[in-house]
Amino acid sequence: MKSAVYPGSFDPTTNGHLDIIKRASKIVDKLYVAVLDNPSKTPLFTVEERVSQLKEILKDHDNVKVMSFSGLLVDFVRSVGSNIIVRGLRGVTDFSYEFQMALSNRSLDSNIETLFISADTQYLFFSSSQVKEIAFFNGNIDNMVPDIVKTELQKKMQVLKAQQETGGK
Ligand code: PNS
Repeated sequence: MKSAVYPGSFDPTTNGHLDIIKRASKIVDKLYVAVLDNPSKTPLFTVEERVSQLKEILKDHDNVKVMSFSGLLVDFVRSVGSNIIVRGLRGVTDFSYEFQMALSNRSLDSNIETLFISADTQYLFFSSSQVKEIAFFNGNIDNMVPDIVKTELQKKMQVLKAQQETGGK
């Protein structure tokens, strides 16, 4: 059985991520979507929130399993019995970072290959960071994220704004 791991921060999941998940899940028997739990970063959504959003969004995708991971990605890939990492590419600006990461992972485990999948053109122009910024300023993110993420982002942004107005008190 051929499996692969699609890792990321998913803070939050965008339609670009979903496009990669759908494409990758068609070429392997099992796709693990691996959500990074990194205590040294302060994401907008907790790892539990990010995992639960993805589980809800992907509930009809039988060969996709959502998990969280911490530590080295190659260790997680081995732990699920896979040897393939999938990453999405939006263009040349992603390439140098992704290429460096692929080579770092290969230096850690030469049996693990990174496969790049290009996102569809409609998803090339935005990232999770931009989605958060647009949502903060009440911009239209309808075509950028799944509905459940949109609702949760709007709630988070209201809390953030309220905290800013009270000076975090
Ligand atoms: O969505 P992102 O933030 O671009 O995903 C980055 C991710 C999670 C794939 C990367 O940060 C990662 O693999 N982190 C785990 C730590 C690790 O294995 N580092 C060595 C490879 S650079």
